Amino acid sequence: MNSIVLFSAIFLLTFSGSCLAILDAFSSSLDGSNGGYSLPKSVNNYELHDSCLIELRKQMNLEKHASLVYKQMAFHFGSVKVVRPGFAKIFEHHSNEEHEHSNKFIKYIDLRGATIDSFNITMPQKTSWTRVLEAVEDAIDLEHYVTNEIIRIHRIAEKTCKDIHLMNFLENDFIDEQISSINKLMKLATLLRSIGNDGYGEYLIDRDFFNGKLSLDEL
Ligand SMILES: *[C@@H]1O[C@H](CO)[C@@H](O)[C@H](O)[C@H]1NC(C)=O
Ligand SMILES: [Fe+2]
Repeated sequence: MNSIVLFSAIFLLTFSGSCLAILDAFSSSLDGSNGGYSLPKSVNNYELHDSCLIELRKQMNLEKHASLVYKQMAFHFGSVKVVRPGFAKIFEHHSNEEHEHSNKFIKYIDLRGATIDSFNITMPQKTSWTRVLEAVEDAIDLEHYVTNEIIRIHRIAEKTCKDIHLMNFLENDFIDEQISSINKLMKLATLLRSIGNDGYGEYLIDRDFFNGKLSLDEL
């Protein structure tokens, strides 16, 4: 029994000794002068720059704001006074997507070791729209604003934070989707403009969306 303990102790000492030797060799091979390079310590060297953290928190709130705006539209068009269930479905879907976007920012902030702070979400100001076209035009304005904000954050990530991971996240998870979502909304606006101020035309398009004969992805 004693000999096993002794043997293990000797083994551990030898093993850790050789580990240190390997790490020493490694560090001095990286740094010939033995001056600049030091072994990693338990600090996060990839913490978010404060400027970028502030912007990401703002974007998390903006995406949630967008989600509530679309929720308000979904409610309005589905309501007893309007009854456009197809468009209500589209706006509901958009609302859920924006909620997911906000979640993505929350998860990203956490991934980078920061905290989200308390929510500060601007409530939607508008509660009714005379025509679906008016709501779609509002949606286009909002998506343009959101896209410009993402591009602005990307610029700050590049110039101020020098953060390629954040730049990559914004490019891969947001820019492309923003561009294609604006494109679809613009096509929907053109379609709605083509019927003029005609409630029956709007009803027919709504019915096609509701029955799944028409979908935004196919426009
Ligand atoms: C909440 O957001 C608004 C608009 O972005 C900003 O002006 C205000 O200072 C924020 N409030 C807090 C407590 O962060
Ligand atoms: Fe979004």
